Amino acid sequence: MRIKLLLPLAASAAISVYAYDTPTMGWSSWNTYRVNISDSLIMKQADALVELGLDSVGYRYINIDDGYFGGRDKSSGRLLFHPTRFPSGLKPVVDHIHSLGLKAGIYSDAGANTCGNFWDNDTIARGVGLLGHEEQDCNLFFKEIGFDFIKVDYCGADGRQSHQIYAYEPRDRYTAISNAIKATGRDDVRLNVCRWNYPGTWVNDVATSWRTTGDISPRWESVKRIINENLYLSPYAGGGRYNDMDMLEVGRTLSAEEDQTHFAIWCMMSSPLLIGCDLTTLRPETLNLLKNTELIALNQDQLGLQAHVAKLSPENTYVLVKDLGEKWGTRRAVALYNPTDSAYTISVTAEELELEGVTAARDLIAHTDINITDGVLSAAVPPHGTRVYSITGTRRIPRSIYEAEQAYLSSYQEIYDPIATGTAFYFPLESASGGMVVANVGHTPSNDLQWRDVRVDCDGEYRLDLDVTGKADGNLLLFVNNEAAIKLPVEGEGPRRLSSTVRLNKGTNTVRIASTGTAPYIDRMTVNL
Ligand code: GAL
Repeated sequence: MRIKLLLPLAASAAISVYAYDTPTMGWSSWNTYRVNISDSLIMKQADALVELGLDSVGYRYINIDDGYFGGRDKSSGRLLFHPTRFPSGLKPVVDHIHSLGLKAGIYSDAGANTCGNFWDNDTIARGVGLLGHEEQDCNLFFKEIGFDFIKVDYCGADGRQSHQIYAYEPRDRYTAISNAIKATGRDDVRLNVCRWNYPGTWVNDVATSWRTTGDISPRWESVKRIINENLYLSPYAGGGRYNDMDMLEVGRTLSAEEDQTHFAIWCMMSSPLLIGCDLTTLRPETLNLLKNTELIALNQDQLGLQAHVAKLSPENTYVLVKDLGEKWGTRRAVALYNPTDSAYTISVTAEELELEGVTAARDLIAHTDINITDGVLSAAVPPHGTRVYSITGTRRIPRSIYEAEQAYLSSYQEIYDPIATGTAFYFPLESASGGMVVANVGHTPSNDLQWRDVRVDCDGEYRLDLDVTGKADGNLLLFVNNEAAIKLPVEGEGPRRLSSTVRLNKGTNTVRIASTGTAPYIDRMTVNL
């Protein structure tokens, strides 16, 4: 849901801006309890969330995951609830959650069975998914019981994790479910797609968040893998839509340093923040971390942006960055992330952060202000550690380098083999700028790469240099805003630079790359300012 706000500018003028839903925050049952949940357990967790004051810093959703199903009524098809785990059904639980001023979330599957039915031997959860019951179940969940959120899993629609041999198209299944939710008349229900990979750009029209990876577990390797899989997905977040890095394992078995990295990076990436531990036995240091309002503010920032990689060091440490409050403004969030097993000093210059006039930064974990005298933000970061800052300059330096791995790919998806489907993808290439390129652009006009945020301070002619590498034939097609295509011949194999002088407008421009033949790997674009 988005709310239109009218902001008075002056007595006679007003501009309208949109305030979007920020990432979902709350608690979910799966990580600690799997299918072993009950009405009293859920209500106790909701009570604890309020007693701990977690609601007052933004955690508002209590989400019941897999495990509540009790089959279907044979004649009416009505969904039944587990006879011993939820003997009085779900309504009293949801009423209790709502009485605390919280919101309630539920779980289902896009196919016939749930994942718990297949993987956790929850034999009663067969035939309980949304397939063929979209309207009936959505009416029950959202009109009758009053849920506010639903996570929709995919085991039942995936031939390999189901008791049937056929598979469905994720786009068809989730669109049908989204339409059934809308048909209930509720426009405030949040739909989370759980297809364990970035599903495709269609998902933006269907859901408010989507899982981008397989399941998290409370081990460092799992947290590191999930961060790694999300580093180049920032073009697909924003405007109230979010990449979901999975529920939090904070407060379970990770070290204090790892817990801190896990929480801080989820905040930087604007991932939903769903606590996954037992709130009745929470350690004080876990509560402290989960209530770090300076980190939460990054996650709940109204721009809803996901951080991107600003710098990758030869040691494989990262600098992540995103704008806060205002796009292209002078306030930015910066994370120095060390996923390696050795300690490193990680440094970034104000210039690399596109800022001028930086004299101080705020350490959002230590809650201290630090002076910056030489224009360099730098910290010793232990193995698996992260340091996070907000940093303000006096002026935003116009950007001239646009990496391909920060661009939006119109056909991007991670479900199918991109070579087989002919869709573009991000690809690590050590010799490339930023260590990444985009491969497989072209074949069809819509399989393009877009830099949607090419900013210049003045209208005028600018030379664009495009660095590409790898085998190619035909022409690259360069489109600026809605202008006709400029053809750039690309024959050849090694690293090469293609140039064209184009007209850019003051403010934000879109530069789009398509191809008439086999496109080369696209490395980066330089706008000569
Ligand atoms: C998985 C999902 C988990 C959890 C589980 C329930 O597919 O990724 O987050 O919901 O199913 O069975």
